[in-house]
Amino acid sequence: MRRRLIWDIPTRLFHWLLVGALLVQYVTATWMDNAMQWHFYTGYFVLGLLTFRILWGLVGPTHARFASFVTSPVQVFRYGKTLFRQNSHAYGGHNPLGGYVVILMLALLISQAVSGLFMTDDIFMEGPWYPSADESLRDLMNYLHRAGVDWLLIIIGLHISAVIFYKVYKKQALTSAMLHGKKQTEAKAISSSKLLLAGLLMIISAALTWYVVAEAPPETESEDVFY
Ligand code: HEM
Ligand code: HEM
Repeated sequence: MRRRLIWDIPTRLFHWLLVGALLVQYVTATWMDNAMQWHFYTGYFVLGLLTFRILWGLVGPTHARFASFVTSPVQVFRYGKTLFRQNSHAYGGHNPLGGYVVILMLALLISQAVSGLFMTDDIFMEGPWYPSADESLRDLMNYLHRAGVDWLLIIIGLHISAVIFYKVYKKQALTSAMLHGKKQTEAKAISSSKLLLAGLLMIISAALTWYVVAEAPPETESEDVFY
């Protein structure tokens, strides 16, 4: 079996920038005092990354596209039966089960980044959408942001365990493929990373994120003004 280019450069960049940014998010919110401003900036960066990944999932190269890894439940079930087979073939992109885990991770991350916009540290800092939200929306977002951390930690733990399982038990080097892009697989290689398109989508994602952050609605007129 030949080594073929599977993961394009933007998808790899997205992954490792996301990992780094989430580390920053965790550290700035839980281990550091006075780092909330950085938590906000990095949170906006994550929002931009996620916007890019959604667009890339629609128009990026084959294996990055949602359509290529969101499969039917029947395929997931079939794949599940081969999970503990050591010599099962290496998928080109995400396998049918992994594909759904990726969607779940992205959904949780979107919820985390969006709910952050409505958060306050009750001292100096308010997310840009906090002033315009009413009490019940603030409570909901606060709940999502704090409970979301636990769910994220669980799914990231599962994700890293799965990667180790594939390496140790199934002898498939998924991590190095996420680094250099190449996998030993029978699946079709991608012909290019579509860097020009990626650059354009990055600019669009940054602009959309900037718009959501900078153009948040003003404070609503209510009894809130008294505190
Ligand atoms: C904050 C921690 C992490 C998060 C949130 C995360 C999230 C993700 C996401 C969203 C994807 C899908 C990529 C895409 O299609 O765009 C992915 C894939 C992947 N991640 Fe992570 N990741 C994390 C940490 C790690 C670490 C530490 C490793 C390596 C040790 C790793 C290895 C991989 C690999 C190998 C894939 C591709 C899996 C496959 O071949 O189907 N990830 N990850
Ligand atoms: C995916 C991106 C994000 C992650 C992973 C993340 C993670 C966290 C974590 C781990 C906490 C601590 C929760 C706790 O102690 O219960 C937290 C709290 C908080 N986050 Fe985020 N966050 C993200 C995005 C954002 C954004 C975009 C904003 C605002 C623009 C924001 C604002 C806040 C605030 C104000 C708190 C409360 C801090 C306090 O209680 O003193 N977060 N976040």
